Amino acid sequence: MKILITGGAGFIGSHIVDALITKGHSPIVVDNLSSGRKENLPEQVPLYVVDVCDKSALQKVFEKEKPDLVCHQAAQMSVSLSVKQPSFDAQVNILGLLNTLELAQEHQVQKFVFASSGGVLYGNVTQPVAEDYPANPISPYGISKWAGERYLQFFSQEHGLKTVALRYANVFGPRQNPHGEAGVVAIFSQRMLRGEQTKVNGDGKYIRDYVYVEDVARANVLSLLEDAPQIHAAFNVGTGRPTDVNELAEQLKSLTEKELKNRGSSIHVPTPEHGPARAGDLRSNLIDASRLQELWDWSPQVTLEHGLELAVNWFATEEFGN
Ligand SMILES: NC(=O)c1ccc[n+]([C@@H]2O[C@H](COP(=O)([O-])OP(=O)(O)OC[C@H]3O[C@@H](n4cnc5c(N)ncnc54)[C@H](O)[C@@H]3O)[C@@H](O)[C@H]2O)c1
Repeated sequence: MKILITGGAGFIGSHIVDALITKGHSPIVVDNLSSGRKENLPEQVPLYVVDVCDKSALQKVFEKEKPDLVCHQAAQMSVSLSVKQPSFDAQVNILGLLNTLELAQEHQVQKFVFASSGGVLYGNVTQPVAEDYPANPISPYGISKWAGERYLQFFSQEHGLKTVALRYANVFGPRQNPHGEAGVVAIFSQRMLRGEQTKVNGDGKYIRDYVYVEDVARANVLSLLEDAPQIHAAFNVGTGRPTDVNELAEQLKSLTEKELKNRGSSIHVPTPEHGPARAGDLRSNLIDASRLQELWDWSPQVTLEHGLELAVNWFATEEFGN
């Protein structure tokens, strides 16, 4: 099948591309390369450097490629930027999504999968919550993801387009962008490998649900290719396992030290320091992915420990070569 992945040159999108190729499908990528990288993609994958906000450019891609399925990962994904510039967030995350949805419907795409977020929809929860837990987004980014899900539902009901929203937990792994505010694993791995000081916000007792990127890619592939019981469905994609930032920083310190030692490097990894707490950070966020497990037998295959090892190894290769 021909599958269009918006944001496919990014962290999660490029792993979806890899997973689809392994299954014998033909991915096509649309990405404006604002945070994505061409190098994340295998050479044979067509890359259209197009902004999803530019509907006529996007339309040309649909006309030329006639995709069977669409997987929409493109987004501005900074919560703090969304707070500073809600209209920019809405432009990309709502209007960009609507352009893609309208074109998918006009070109009779068979299914549309959308990257949503469990973290921003459910807010502060101390136990893993399922999809029926009331959504209560507080940031413009959360509001635009929630609006996106409602638009999907509308397109399903009004136009018969099959849609799936995947509500990711905290995704981590190789190719994650360490430059943004998101992705503590990427930021810490890179800084530690350089021997730079890392800062844990506040007391570090912020509980998150970390899910490995290949597990998230597999959830996308299942959602694209398998039948769902309803025309519109939403699924959580996470582990339900709580990890706080102190524990994560400790594991990353020992993994980066091991990696540096194996490479014969004398770089010293400083012990993370505690900085001021970040306003608005949730204390705890965990999601329950039983629905996805029951329907398609999806469960996380990569443990946090192993996933962190793979991520650190990838960041070390980026930094020092093979
Ligand atoms: N990483 C996480 O933990 C996480 C959690 C919940 C939801 N998500 C969602 O998953 C999706 C993928 O995120 P990611 O972590 O891979 O981030 P990413 O920044 O690596 O990927 C986003 C991609 O979209 C592209 N893009 C951005 N704006 C665009 C535009 N206007 N037109 C075309 N392309 C554009 C970027 O260049 C990038 O390649 C996003 O929708 C994000 O909101 C991510």
